[in-house]
Amino acid sequence: MSASQPAFYNDLAVTLDTAWNLLEQGARDRHAPFHALSVASVDQAGNPRQRTMILRHVDRELRTLRFHSDQRSPKFEQISNRPAISVSHYSAEHKLELRLFGKGRFHLGDDIAARAWLSMRDLSRVCYRSPKAPSEPIDSPDDYLDPSKLVVTSDDAIAQRNFCVLIIHVEELDWIYLDHRGNRRARFRWGGNDVASPLPQSQWLQH
Ligand SMILES: Cc1cc2nc3c(=O)[nH]c(=O)nc-3n(C[C@H](O)[C@H](O)[C@H](O)COP(=O)(O)O)c2cc1C
Repeated sequence: MSASQPAFYNDLAVTLDTAWNLLEQGARDRHAPFHALSVASVDQAGNPRQRTMILRHVDRELRTLRFHSDQRSPKFEQISNRPAISVSHYSAEHKLELRLFGKGRFHLGDDIAARAWLSMRDLSRVCYRSPKAPSEPIDSPDDYLDPSKLVVTSDDAIAQRNFCVLIIHVEELDWIYLDHRGNRRARFRWGGNDVASPLPQSQWLQH
C-alpha cells in the first residue's frame, strides 16, 4: 500500500509553507537536512563559484537567510561586487530539492554583524582568529593551522574584525519533489526587493 499524499502535494500555499518550515528547521537543528547548503556566487570573471555554508537563521517575513563567514574569503569580494546568489540543496530524506535565488549582502562591523557575533559560542568564534585567510595558499598540508587549538572570546577584536554576516534576500524559490505518483515542481517569485508584497507569483512547473 502506498503512503498517503503529503499535504503539499497539490497545494501551492502548503508547498511554500513547507519549504520555509524546512529551511527554518535547517537553521535551528544541525542534524536537519537543510542545515548545510550550497551557496553559489559569480566571480570577477563571470564564472560560477559554489561552496557549502551553514544556514544560521531564516526570516520568512523578510525572506532572508543568514550565513556567517570570514571577510578575508574570496566570496566576500565576489558577492560584494556581484550580489546575484543561488542556494541549493537536495534532501534524499524528503526527496526534495530546494533552490533559492536572490541577492546577497555582507555585513561587517555593523549592528547585524555585532548581534550575530554575540549569539555565537566561543567554539565557533575561533575560525575567525586564524592568522591565515580562508583559501590562502600554504606550502605543505602540515602548515594547516587548526583553529580549534585557539582560544577566542567575544571581545577578541581580531576575530571580530574578520567575522562577517551574509544576508541573502530571496526573490525566487524553486521546489522539486520526487514521487512515484508524479513529481511536483513549483516556482514562487517575489517582486525584486519589494518586501512589502509578501505574496509571490506561484506556479506549478513541468519537472
Ligand atoms: C560542512 C561545511 C560547512 C561550511 N560552512 C561554512 C560557513 O558557514 N561559512 C563559510 O564561510 N564557509 C563554510 N565552509 C567552507 C566553505 O565551503 C569554503 O570552502 C570556504 O568558505 C572558502 O570559500 P570561498 O573560497 O568561496 O570564499 C564550510 C565547509 C563545509 C565542508
